[in-house]
Amino acid sequence: MNTSATPRIALITGANIGIGRVTAVRLAQQGYTVFLAGRSAQRTQAVIDDIHALTGSPHSAFFLPLQLDDLSSVRECAALFLARQLPLHLLINNAGLAGLKGQTRQGFEMAFGVNHLGHFLLTQLLLPTLKASAPARVVTVASRAHLMAYQGLDWAALQQPTRSLTGTAEYGVSKLANILFSAHLAKVLAGTGVSTYALHPGVVDTEVWREVPRWLRPVLRLRGLLTPEEGAQTSLYCALQAPADESGLYYDKSRVKTPSRIAQDSQLAEQLWKQSLQWVEATS
Ligand SMILES: NC(=O)c1ccc[n+]([C@@H]2O[C@H](COP(=O)([O-])OP(=O)(O)OC[C@H]3O[C@@H](n4cnc5c(N)ncnc54)[C@H](OP(=O)(O)O)[C@@H]3O)[C@@H](O)[C@H]2O)c1
Repeated sequence: MNTSATPRIALITGANIGIGRVTAVRLAQQGYTVFLAGRSAQRTQAVIDDIHALTGSPHSAFFLPLQLDDLSSVRECAALFLARQLPLHLLINNAGLAGLKGQTRQGFEMAFGVNHLGHFLLTQLLLPTLKASAPARVVTVASRAHLMAYQGLDWAALQQPTRSLTGTAEYGVSKLANILFSAHLAKVLAGTGVSTYALHPGVVDTEVWREVPRWLRPVLRLRGLLTPEEGAQTSLYCALQAPADESGLYYDKSRVKTPSRIAQDSQLAEQLWKQSLQWVEATS
């Protein structure tokens, strides 16, 4: 483990590549011991090697297997971490996909299941440890794409295969869910010393667009792409600098930003929280 006097521990999902990779490396440089949760140990090894080299410690980064499209894998990932009986100061719900159509192992719409419900369960399972480790933070990488979900949440559609041609509408819904989740989590965590942040990283040149049809990609590129290094800056700001009393808010360019009207609907946020709880409990 990190040998500094007060070791800080972070768990980040989807850190083998893209925004998550930069976030994990920078946190390790700040002295965090980082747990990189993802689908492939092999594809995460290069990041772990980089972190070990940068920190000069072979105990500064570890891999945890995690498939967010399978809630049993989420439970196993949390159990593996909890079995180490370590504190947890920072949970970064970073992993995400756009444009992959279908359903998760437990039958949820793919983007919603991976981007929201998998992270919802992971956070629930780690909450007691986060609270016991306070001050601690939960950072959820959402997106400006939540603006597409202006009609809110269609509860039935969330349990069906992706309907839209490109999957981008469902991506927007999943990112709305990220913001609603983070806002309600702040209420649940009030007074515990654990604060929570949702953010838009910018439009970043990463693999997240790999499943989006080729004809749509030039449209995305027209919006001006950031590098992954630039794209990680708001995650790092929320993880390391944002004031703890700003818990539950949404950030863009390392500043508080007002999300869509529907993303500010506290009743919808509570409804999503209760429904998500029911869904994950039904699959346990
Ligand atoms: N790039 C942008 O312009 C942009 C804009 C707004 C928001 N975001 C958000 O930023 C976050 C990071 O994305 P990125 O742009 O860095 O994309 P990325 O390079 O594609 O990284 C996404 C990460 O998520 C992981 N992941 C995908 N599906 C998973 C699953 N079922 N289980 C576990 N891990 C899974 C990927 O793992 P594999 O390598 O195994 O696939 C990868 O590590 C996402 O939440 C994304 O929605 C990105």
